[in-house]
Amino acid sequence: MSNIWVRKSMAVLKAEAQDELTGTEGLHRSMSLFSLVSFGIGGIIGAGIFVLTGHAAASYAGPAISLSFVLAGLVCLFAGLCYAEMASTVPIAGSAYTYAYATMGELIAWIIGWDLVLEYSVASATVAIGWSGYATSLLAGFGLKIPENLTSAPFTYDPATGDWTHTGALVNLPALFIILFMTVLLVLGVRESARVNNVIVLIKLSIVILFIAVGLGSVSLANWVTPGNPEGLYIPPTTGVGQFGWSGVVRGAAVVFFAYIGFDAVSTAAQEAHDPQRTLPIGILGSLLFCTLLYVLVSFVITGIVPYDQLNVPDPIALGVDTIGLGWFSALIKLGAVLGLSSVILVFLFGQPRIFYAMAKDGLLPPFAAKVHPRFHTPYITTIITGIGIAVISALLPIGLVGELVSIGTLFAFAVVCGGVLILRITHPEIHRPFKTPAVYIVAPLGVFSALFLMFGLPNDTWVRLVVWLFIGLVIYFFYGRKHSVIQRAAQESEK
Ligand code: ALA
Repeated sequence: MSNIWVRKSMAVLKAEAQDELTGTEGLHRSMSLFSLVSFGIGGIIGAGIFVLTGHAAASYAGPAISLSFVLAGLVCLFAGLCYAEMASTVPIAGSAYTYAYATMGELIAWIIGWDLVLEYSVASATVAIGWSGYATSLLAGFGLKIPENLTSAPFTYDPATGDWTHTGALVNLPALFIILFMTVLLVLGVRESARVNNVIVLIKLSIVILFIAVGLGSVSLANWVTPGNPEGLYIPPTTGVGQFGWSGVVRGAAVVFFAYIGFDAVSTAAQEAHDPQRTLPIGILGSLLFCTLLYVLVSFVITGIVPYDQLNVPDPIALGVDTIGLGWFSALIKLGAVLGLSSVILVFLFGQPRIFYAMAKDGLLPPFAAKVHPRFHTPYITTIITGIGIAVISALLPIGLVGELVSIGTLFAFAVVCGGVLILRITHPEIHRPFKTPAVYIVAPLGVFSALFLMFGLPNDTWVRLVVWLFIGLVIYFFYGRKHSVIQRAAQESEK
Protein backbone atom coordinates (compact mmCIF):
# COMPACT_ATOMS: atom_id res chain seq x y z
CA MET A 1 0.00 0.00 0.00
CA SER A 2 1.48 3.37 -0.91
CA ASN A 3 1.81 6.12 1.67
CA ILE A 4 0.88 9.46 0.16
CA TRP A 5 2.25 11.26 3.23
CA VAL A 6 5.75 9.82 2.92
CA ARG A 7 8.50 12.41 3.40
CA LYS A 8 11.79 12.66 1.65
CA SER A 9 14.50 12.18 4.23
CA MET A 10 17.00 14.90 4.96
CA ALA A 11 19.84 12.44 4.35
CA VAL A 12 18.65 11.78 0.78
CA LEU A 13 18.12 15.47 0.14
CA LYS A 14 21.57 16.35 1.46
CA ALA A 15 23.13 13.71 -0.76
CA GLU A 16 21.24 14.99 -3.82
CA ALA A 17 22.30 18.51 -3.03
CA GLN A 18 25.92 17.37 -2.89
CA ASP A 19 25.45 15.89 -6.38
CA GLU A 20 26.21 12.45 -4.98
CA LEU A 21 23.02 11.07 -6.41
CA THR A 22 22.50 13.34 -9.39
CA GLY A 23 25.94 12.43 -10.72
CA THR A 24 28.29 14.36 -12.90
CA GLU A 25 26.10 14.17 -15.99
CA GLY A 26 23.58 16.44 -14.28
CA LEU A 27 23.16 20.21 -14.07
CA HIS A 28 26.32 22.29 -13.91
CA ARG A 29 27.25 24.87 -11.31
CA SER A 30 27.94 28.03 -13.26
CA MET A 31 26.03 30.84 -11.52
CA SER A 32 28.01 33.29 -9.39
CA LEU A 33 26.62 35.33 -6.51
CA PHE A 34 26.38 38.36 -8.81
CA SER A 35 24.39 36.35 -11.37
CA LEU A 36 22.04 35.08 -8.67
CA VAL A 37 21.21 38.54 -7.33
CA SER A 38 20.81 39.77 -10.89
CA PHE A 39 18.64 36.73 -11.59
CA GLY A 40 16.36 37.68 -8.70
CA ILE A 41 16.13 41.30 -9.86
CA GLY A 42 15.59 40.06 -13.42
CA GLY A 43 12.59 38.05 -12.25
CA ILE A 44 11.11 40.74 -10.03
CA ILE A 45 11.10 44.02 -11.95
CA GLY A 46 8.63 43.73 -14.82
CA ALA A 47 4.96 44.10 -15.63
CA GLY A 48 4.06 44.77 -12.00
CA ILE A 49 5.90 48.05 -11.63
CA PHE A 50 5.65 49.13 -15.27
CA VAL A 51 1.93 48.38 -15.70
CA LEU A 52 0.03 47.58 -12.49
CA THR A 53 1.24 50.50 -10.35
CA GLY A 54 -0.92 53.02 -12.19
CA HIS A 55 -4.10 50.98 -11.97
CA ALA A 56 -3.57 50.19 -8.28
CA ALA A 57 -2.95 53.86 -7.44
CA ALA A 58 -5.89 55.13 -9.49
CA SER A 59 -8.42 52.57 -8.27
CA TYR A 60 -7.40 51.54 -4.75
CA ALA A 61 -4.67 53.36 -2.88
CA GLY A 62 -4.02 56.83 -4.35
CA PRO A 63 -0.66 58.31 -3.28
CA ALA A 64 -0.54 55.64 -0.54
CA ILE A 65 0.35 53.12 -3.25
CA SER A 66 3.91 53.49 -1.95
CA LEU A 67 2.58 52.21 1.40
CA SER A 68 0.91 49.31 -0.44
CA PHE A 69 4.35 48.49 -1.85
CA VAL A 70 5.79 48.52 1.69
CA LEU A 71 3.06 46.15 2.88
CA ALA A 72 3.41 43.75 -0.04
CA GLY A 73 7.20 43.93 0.42
CA LEU A 74 6.76 42.93 4.07
CA VAL A 75 4.68 39.87 3.14
CA CYS A 76 7.43 38.94 0.69
CA LEU A 77 10.11 39.55 3.31
CA PHE A 78 8.51 37.01 5.67
CA ALA A 79 8.36 34.50 2.82
CA GLY A 80 11.82 35.49 1.57
CA LEU A 81 13.39 34.79 4.97
CA CYS A 82 11.75 31.36 5.04
CA TYR A 83 12.78 30.61 1.44
CA ALA A 84 16.32 31.65 2.35
CA GLU A 85 16.45 29.19 5.25
CA MET A 86 14.98 26.35 3.20
CA ALA A 87 17.16 27.06 0.18
CA SER A 88 20.31 27.12 2.29
CA THR A 89 19.33 23.93 4.13
CA VAL A 90 17.95 21.98 1.14
CA PRO A 91 19.60 23.47 -1.97
CA ILE A 92 17.61 21.48 -4.55
CA ALA A 93 16.13 22.87 -7.80
CA GLY A 94 12.56 21.90 -6.89
CA SER A 95 12.21 24.91 -4.54
CA ALA A 96 8.90 24.92 -2.61
CA TYR A 97 8.05 21.50 -4.06
CA THR A 98 11.19 19.95 -2.53
CA TYR A 99 10.77 21.79 0.78
CA ALA A 100 7.22 20.44 1.05
CA TYR A 101 8.46 16.91 0.24
CA ALA A 102 10.87 17.14 3.16
CA THR A 103 8.35 18.56 5.61
CA MET A 104 4.74 17.79 4.70
CA GLY A 105 4.97 14.63 2.61
CA GLU A 106 4.54 13.57 -0.98
CA LEU A 107 0.93 14.56 -1.59
CA ILE A 108 1.40 18.14 -0.42
CA ALA A 109 4.70 18.28 -2.33
CA TRP A 110 2.94 17.21 -5.51
CA ILE A 111 0.17 19.74 -4.94
CA ILE A 112 2.73 22.52 -4.50
CA GLY A 113 4.77 21.37 -7.52
CA TRP A 114 1.60 21.41 -9.57
CA ASP A 115 0.60 24.76 -8.06
CA LEU A 116 3.96 26.27 -9.03
CA VAL A 117 2.97 25.83 -12.68
CA LEU A 118 0.55 28.66 -11.99
CA GLU A 119 3.41 30.80 -10.78
CA TYR A 120 6.08 30.03 -13.33
CA SER A 121 4.29 29.05 -16.54
CA VAL A 122 1.27 31.27 -16.21
CA ALA A 123 3.43 34.25 -15.16
CA SER A 124 5.65 33.75 -18.22
CA ALA A 125 2.59 33.70 -20.47
CA THR A 126 1.08 36.78 -18.79
CA VAL A 127 4.31 38.76 -18.97
CA ALA A 128 4.87 37.70 -22.61
CA ILE A 129 1.48 39.16 -23.50
CA GLY A 130 2.43 42.40 -21.71
CA TRP A 131 5.80 42.30 -23.49
CA SER A 132 4.02 42.09 -26.81
CA GLY A 133 2.07 45.30 -26.08
CA TYR A 134 5.17 47.27 -25.09
CA ALA A 135 7.34 45.88 -27.91
CA THR A 136 4.69 46.65 -30.53
CA SER A 137 4.36 50.21 -29.27
CA LEU A 138 8.16 50.69 -29.11
CA LEU A 139 8.58 49.41 -32.67
CA ALA A 140 5.72 51.62 -33.88
CA GLY A 141 7.67 54.57 -32.43
CA PHE A 142 10.47 53.66 -34.85
CA GLY A 143 8.01 53.44 -37.75
CA LEU A 144 7.85 49.63 -37.71
CA LYS A 145 4.19 48.71 -37.63
CA ILE A 146 3.22 45.09 -37.02
CA PRO A 147 -0.27 44.36 -38.43
CA GLU A 148 -2.81 44.54 -35.60
CA ASN A 149 -4.23 41.11 -36.24
CA LEU A 150 -0.80 39.65 -35.50
CA THR A 151 -0.34 41.31 -32.11
CA SER A 152 -3.23 40.06 -30.00
CA ALA A 153 -5.12 36.95 -29.03
CA PRO A 154 -7.86 35.65 -31.36
CA PHE A 155 -10.27 35.41 -28.42
CA THR A 156 -11.36 37.55 -25.50
CA TYR A 157 -13.08 36.27 -22.42
CA ASP A 158 -15.62 38.08 -20.29
CA PRO A 159 -15.44 36.71 -16.72
CA ALA A 160 -18.79 38.32 -15.84
CA THR A 161 -20.75 36.40 -18.49
CA GLY A 162 -18.29 33.56 -19.15
CA ASP A 163 -18.51 34.36 -22.88
CA TRP A 164 -15.72 33.92 -25.39
CA THR A 165 -15.64 36.34 -28.31
CA HIS A 166 -13.60 36.15 -31.49
CA THR A 167 -11.53 39.32 -31.86
CA GLY A 168 -10.69 39.01 -35.54
CA ALA A 169 -6.98 38.77 -34.68
CA LEU A 170 -5.02 35.69 -35.71
CA VAL A 171 -2.26 35.29 -33.20
CA ASN A 172 -0.11 37.24 -30.74
CA LEU A 173 3.09 36.86 -32.74
CA PRO A 174 5.45 38.98 -30.58
CA ALA A 175 4.43 36.99 -27.46
CA LEU A 176 5.09 33.75 -29.32
CA PHE A 177 8.44 35.07 -30.50
CA ILE A 178 9.77 36.16 -27.10
CA ILE A 179 8.87 32.86 -25.43
CA LEU A 180 10.51 30.80 -28.16
CA PHE A 181 13.59 33.05 -28.20
CA MET A 182 14.11 32.69 -24.44
CA THR A 183 13.46 28.96 -24.64
CA VAL A 184 16.25 28.53 -27.18
CA LEU A 185 18.60 30.62 -25.04
CA LEU A 186 17.80 28.54 -21.96
CA VAL A 187 18.42 25.30 -23.81
CA LEU A 188 21.80 26.53 -25.02
CA GLY A 189 23.21 27.16 -21.57
CA VAL A 190 22.76 28.56 -18.10
CA ARG A 191 25.94 30.60 -18.20
CA GLU A 192 24.84 32.17 -21.49
CA SER A 193 21.34 32.84 -20.16
CA ALA A 194 22.76 34.37 -16.97
CA ARG A 195 25.00 36.66 -19.02
CA VAL A 196 22.11 37.87 -21.14
CA ASN A 197 20.10 38.39 -17.95
CA ASN A 198 22.94 40.39 -16.35
CA VAL A 199 23.09 42.78 -19.31
CA ILE A 200 19.33 43.24 -19.42
CA VAL A 201 19.17 43.83 -15.67
CA LEU A 202 21.92 46.45 -15.77
CA ILE A 203 20.09 48.38 -18.50
CA LYS A 204 16.66 48.14 -16.90
CA LEU A 205 18.01 49.13 -13.49
CA SER A 206 19.75 52.15 -14.98
CA ILE A 207 16.48 53.24 -16.57
CA VAL A 208 14.47 52.78 -13.36
CA ILE A 209 17.08 54.59 -11.26
CA LEU A 210 17.26 57.40 -13.81
CA PHE A 211 13.48 57.72 -13.62
CA ILE A 212 13.66 58.04 -9.84
CA ALA A 213 16.52 60.55 -9.97
CA VAL A 214 14.89 62.71 -12.64
CA GLY A 215 11.37 62.36 -11.23
CA LEU A 216 12.21 63.18 -7.61
CA GLY A 217 13.00 66.78 -8.56
CA SER A 218 9.49 67.23 -9.99
CA VAL A 219 7.52 65.65 -7.15
CA SER A 220 4.88 68.02 -5.81
CA LEU A 221 2.48 67.12 -3.03
CA ALA A 222 -0.06 69.35 -4.81
CA ASN A 223 -0.50 66.39 -7.15
CA TRP A 224 -2.13 64.45 -4.32
CA VAL A 225 -5.12 66.79 -4.56
CA THR A 226 -7.90 65.36 -6.75
CA PRO A 227 -11.70 65.73 -6.77
CA GLY A 228 -11.91 62.58 -4.59
CA ASN A 229 -9.16 63.83 -2.27
CA PRO A 230 -9.67 67.61 -1.97
CA GLU A 231 -7.40 67.88 1.08
CA GLY A 232 -4.54 66.10 -0.65
CA LEU A 233 -4.21 63.38 2.00
CA TYR A 234 -1.60 60.64 1.61
CA ILE A 235 -4.36 58.07 2.19
CA PRO A 236 -7.42 59.46 0.35
CA PRO A 237 -10.84 59.18 2.05
CA THR A 238 -12.48 55.82 1.43
CA THR A 239 -15.37 55.44 -1.00
CA GLY A 240 -16.16 51.80 -0.14
CA VAL A 241 -14.41 48.64 0.97
CA GLY A 242 -11.11 48.31 -0.88
CA GLN A 243 -11.48 51.74 -2.47
CA PHE A 244 -9.03 54.16 -0.87
CA GLY A 245 -8.73 54.54 2.88
CA TRP A 246 -6.85 51.77 4.74
CA SER A 247 -8.75 48.96 3.04
CA GLY A 248 -7.70 50.45 -0.30
CA VAL A 249 -4.07 50.37 0.81
CA VAL A 250 -4.45 46.66 1.57
CA ARG A 251 -6.18 45.92 -1.72
CA GLY A 252 -3.45 47.89 -3.47
CA ALA A 253 -0.89 45.64 -1.74
CA ALA A 254 -2.68 42.51 -2.99
CA VAL A 255 -2.63 43.87 -6.55
CA VAL A 256 1.01 44.99 -6.56
CA PHE A 257 2.10 41.75 -4.89
CA PHE A 258 2.52 40.50 -8.46
CA ALA A 259 5.36 43.00 -8.88
CA TYR A 260 7.45 41.16 -6.25
CA ILE A 261 7.05 37.63 -7.54
CA GLY A 262 10.36 36.34 -8.84
CA PHE A 263 12.77 36.54 -5.89
CA ASP A 264 11.71 33.00 -4.99
CA ALA A 265 12.80 31.81 -8.45
CA VAL A 266 16.40 32.21 -7.25
CA SER A 267 15.86 29.03 -5.24
CA THR A 268 15.31 27.01 -8.45
CA ALA A 269 18.95 27.74 -9.37
CA ALA A 270 20.09 25.74 -6.32
CA GLN A 271 21.85 23.04 -8.34
CA GLU A 272 23.46 25.47 -10.76
CA ALA A 273 24.79 28.04 -8.27
CA HIS A 274 28.27 28.11 -6.80
CA ASP A 275 28.29 27.66 -3.03
CA PRO A 276 24.46 27.63 -2.90
CA GLN A 277 24.16 27.44 0.87
CA ARG A 278 25.72 30.88 1.11
CA THR A 279 24.74 32.47 -2.20
CA LEU A 280 21.04 31.51 -2.38
CA PRO A 281 19.95 33.42 0.75
CA ILE A 282 21.90 36.46 -0.44
CA GLY A 283 20.36 36.16 -3.92
CA ILE A 284 16.82 35.82 -2.57
CA LEU A 285 16.96 38.50 0.11
CA GLY A 286 19.34 40.87 -1.70
CA SER A 287 17.17 41.08 -4.81
CA LEU A 288 14.00 41.41 -2.74
CA LEU A 289 15.24 44.21 -0.50
CA PHE A 290 16.80 46.12 -3.35
CA CYS A 291 13.62 45.96 -5.45
CA THR A 292 11.43 46.91 -2.48
CA LEU A 293 13.43 50.11 -2.10
CA LEU A 294 13.14 50.86 -5.82
CA TYR A 295 9.41 50.13 -5.89
CA VAL A 296 8.64 52.40 -2.96
CA LEU A 297 10.62 55.21 -4.59
CA VAL A 298 9.10 54.70 -8.07
CA SER A 299 5.55 54.66 -6.71
CA PHE A 300 6.20 57.74 -4.56
CA VAL A 301 7.64 59.59 -7.55
CA ILE A 302 4.93 58.62 -10.02
CA THR A 303 2.08 59.69 -7.72
CA GLY A 304 4.02 62.87 -6.95
CA ILE A 305 4.27 63.91 -10.60
CA VAL A 306 0.89 62.71 -11.95
CA PRO A 307 -2.37 63.01 -9.95
CA TYR A 308 -3.29 59.42 -9.11
CA ASP A 309 -6.74 59.61 -10.73
CA GLN A 310 -5.02 59.98 -14.12
CA LEU A 311 -2.80 56.95 -13.72
CA ASN A 312 -5.16 54.21 -14.88
CA VAL A 313 -3.24 53.71 -18.15
CA PRO A 314 -1.26 50.73 -19.49
CA ASP A 315 2.04 52.64 -19.33
CA PRO A 316 1.92 54.86 -16.20
CA ILE A 317 5.69 55.38 -15.95
CA ALA A 318 5.90 56.58 -19.56
CA LEU A 319 2.99 58.92 -18.81
CA GLY A 320 4.97 60.24 -15.84
CA VAL A 321 7.99 61.25 -17.91
CA ASP A 322 5.73 62.80 -20.56
CA THR A 323 4.07 64.85 -17.83
CA ILE A 324 7.34 66.35 -16.66
CA GLY A 325 8.14 67.28 -20.24
CA LEU A 326 10.75 64.62 -20.98
CA GLY A 327 9.21 63.13 -24.10
CA TRP A 328 12.55 61.65 -25.21
CA PHE A 329 12.77 59.68 -21.98
CA SER A 330 9.43 58.03 -22.69
CA ALA A 331 10.97 55.85 -25.45
CA LEU A 332 13.68 54.87 -23.00
CA ILE A 333 11.05 53.89 -20.42
CA LYS A 334 9.38 51.71 -23.03
CA LEU A 335 12.74 50.13 -23.77
CA GLY A 336 13.20 49.59 -20.02
CA ALA A 337 9.79 47.89 -19.86
CA VAL A 338 10.51 45.66 -22.88
CA LEU A 339 13.85 44.63 -21.39
CA GLY A 340 12.38 44.34 -17.91
CA LEU A 341 9.68 42.02 -19.06
CA SER A 342 12.19 40.02 -21.16
CA SER A 343 14.25 39.09 -18.12
CA VAL A 344 11.14 38.18 -16.13
CA ILE A 345 10.22 35.76 -18.91
CA LEU A 346 13.77 34.39 -18.95
CA VAL A 347 13.81 33.78 -15.18
CA PHE A 348 10.38 32.15 -15.05
CA LEU A 349 11.10 29.97 -18.08
CA PHE A 350 14.26 28.91 -16.26
CA GLY A 351 12.41 28.07 -13.05
CA GLN A 352 9.59 25.96 -14.43
CA PRO A 353 11.68 23.19 -16.02
CA ARG A 354 13.84 22.97 -12.86
CA ILE A 355 10.76 22.21 -10.79
CA PHE A 356 9.63 19.61 -13.33
CA TYR A 357 13.21 18.29 -13.30
CA ALA A 358 13.11 17.78 -9.53
CA MET A 359 9.66 16.16 -9.74
CA ALA A 360 10.82 13.81 -12.47
CA LYS A 361 13.93 12.85 -10.48
CA ASP A 362 11.55 11.80 -7.71
CA GLY A 363 9.48 9.76 -10.17
CA LEU A 364 6.40 11.97 -9.92
CA LEU A 365 6.75 13.00 -13.57
CA PRO A 366 8.04 10.88 -16.47
CA PRO A 367 11.83 10.40 -16.54
CA PHE A 368 12.34 12.35 -19.78
CA ALA A 369 11.63 15.56 -17.81
CA ALA A 370 14.84 14.95 -15.84
CA LYS A 371 17.03 14.49 -18.93
CA VAL A 372 19.97 16.87 -19.05
CA HIS A 373 21.66 17.77 -22.34
CA PRO A 374 25.13 16.19 -22.43
CA ARG A 375 26.76 19.28 -23.91
CA PHE A 376 24.64 22.22 -22.73
CA HIS A 377 23.96 20.76 -19.24
CA THR A 378 20.41 22.09 -19.27
CA PRO A 379 17.16 20.14 -18.74
CA TYR A 380 16.49 20.59 -22.46
CA ILE A 381 13.50 18.35 -23.04
CA THR A 382 11.38 19.86 -20.30
CA THR A 383 12.62 23.36 -21.23
CA ILE A 384 11.47 22.83 -24.82
CA ILE A 385 8.11 21.29 -23.90
CA THR A 386 7.39 24.00 -21.33
CA GLY A 387 8.47 26.70 -23.78
CA ILE A 388 6.23 25.44 -26.57
CA GLY A 389 3.26 25.05 -24.22
CA ILE A 390 3.64 28.58 -22.86
CA ALA A 391 4.23 30.00 -26.35
CA VAL A 392 0.93 28.55 -27.54
CA ILE A 393 -0.96 29.89 -24.49
CA SER A 394 0.50 33.37 -24.82
CA ALA A 395 -0.15 33.45 -28.56
CA LEU A 396 -3.81 32.53 -28.24
CA LEU A 397 -5.23 33.52 -24.86
CA PRO A 398 -6.16 37.00 -23.57
CA ILE A 399 -4.14 38.49 -20.70
CA GLY A 400 -6.93 38.70 -18.11
CA LEU A 401 -7.69 35.01 -18.25
CA VAL A 402 -4.16 33.82 -17.68
CA GLY A 403 -2.93 36.59 -15.38
CA GLU A 404 -5.16 36.27 -12.32
CA LEU A 405 -3.87 32.88 -11.29
CA VAL A 406 -0.25 33.86 -10.79
CA SER A 407 -0.63 35.66 -7.48
CA ILE A 408 -2.89 33.06 -5.88
CA GLY A 409 -0.58 30.22 -6.93
CA THR A 410 2.49 32.01 -5.61
CA LEU A 411 0.87 32.98 -2.29
CA PHE A 412 -0.14 29.37 -1.76
CA ALA A 413 3.48 28.29 -2.24
CA PHE A 414 4.65 31.03 0.15
CA ALA A 415 2.29 29.81 2.87
CA VAL A 416 3.56 26.25 2.46
CA VAL A 417 7.23 27.27 2.54
CA CYS A 418 6.72 29.36 5.71
CA GLY A 419 4.85 26.46 7.32
CA GLY A 420 7.57 24.05 6.16
CA VAL A 421 10.32 26.04 7.87
CA LEU A 422 8.50 25.72 11.18
CA ILE A 423 7.87 22.01 10.73
CA LEU A 424 11.53 21.37 9.92
CA ARG A 425 12.68 23.37 12.95
CA ILE A 426 10.49 21.16 15.13
CA THR A 427 11.11 17.79 13.47
CA HIS A 428 14.82 18.29 12.71
CA PRO A 429 16.19 20.86 15.13
CA GLU A 430 19.65 19.32 14.79
CA ILE A 431 20.37 19.85 11.08
CA HIS A 432 22.85 22.44 9.96
CA ARG A 433 21.12 25.56 8.64
CA PRO A 434 23.62 27.92 7.02
CA PHE A 435 20.93 30.63 7.04
CA LYS A 436 18.42 30.81 9.87
CA THR A 437 15.22 32.84 9.69
CA PRO A 438 15.49 35.34 12.56
CA ALA A 439 12.64 35.13 15.10
CA VAL A 440 11.30 32.15 13.15
CA TYR A 441 8.41 31.48 15.54
CA ILE A 442 7.09 34.95 14.76
CA VAL A 443 8.22 35.43 11.15
CA ALA A 444 7.05 32.07 9.78
CA PRO A 445 3.48 32.25 11.19
CA LEU A 446 3.30 35.87 10.00
CA GLY A 447 4.39 34.62 6.58
CA VAL A 448 1.66 31.96 6.52
CA PHE A 449 -1.09 34.30 7.72
CA SER A 450 -0.14 37.26 5.57
CA ALA A 451 -0.01 35.04 2.45
CA LEU A 452 -3.41 33.54 3.29
CA PHE A 453 -4.77 37.01 4.02
CA LEU A 454 -3.77 38.29 0.58
CA MET A 455 -5.13 35.09 -1.00
CA PHE A 456 -8.53 35.59 0.61
CA GLY A 457 -8.61 39.11 -0.85
CA LEU A 458 -8.47 37.72 -4.40
CA PRO A 459 -11.66 37.35 -6.48
CA ASN A 460 -13.82 34.24 -6.16
CA ASP A 461 -13.36 33.09 -9.74
CA THR A 462 -9.60 32.98 -9.16
CA TRP A 463 -10.24 30.61 -6.26
CA VAL A 464 -12.47 28.46 -8.43
CA ARG A 465 -9.73 28.22 -11.06
CA LEU A 466 -7.16 27.35 -8.40
CA VAL A 467 -9.34 24.55 -7.07
CA VAL A 468 -10.03 23.18 -10.57
CA TRP A 469 -6.32 23.28 -11.36
CA LEU A 470 -5.38 21.48 -8.14
CA PHE A 471 -8.09 18.90 -8.76
CA ILE A 472 -6.61 18.10 -12.19
CA GLY A 473 -3.25 17.77 -10.44
CA LEU A 474 -4.64 15.35 -7.88
CA VAL A 475 -6.06 13.13 -10.61
CA ILE A 476 -2.65 13.01 -12.30
CA TYR A 477 -0.96 12.19 -8.99
CA PHE A 478 -3.26 9.31 -8.19
CA PHE A 479 -2.98 7.85 -11.69
CA TYR A 480 0.72 8.45 -12.26
CA GLY A 481 2.89 9.96 -9.50
CA ARG A 482 1.80 7.73 -6.66
CA LYS A 483 2.61 4.63 -8.69
CA HIS A 484 5.97 5.84 -10.00
CA SER A 485 7.29 7.65 -6.95
CA VAL A 486 10.89 6.64 -6.31
CA ILE A 487 10.42 6.74 -2.54
CA GLN A 488 7.22 4.68 -2.65
CA ARG A 489 8.90 2.09 -4.84
CA ALA A 490 11.92 1.87 -2.56
CA ALA A 491 9.62 1.41 0.44
CA GLN A 492 7.64 -1.32 -1.35
CA GLU A 493 10.86 -3.09 -2.37
CA SER A 494 12.08 -3.12 1.22
CA GLU A 495 8.72 -4.52 2.41
CA LYS A 496 9.06 -7.53 0.07
N1 ALA B 1 7.37 40.40 -10.72
C1 ALA B 1 7.17 40.09 -12.08
C2 ALA B 1 6.60 41.23 -12.82
O1 ALA B 1 6.22 42.19 -12.23
C3 ALA B 1 6.32 38.87 -12.24
O2 ALA B 1 6.55 41.17 -14.03
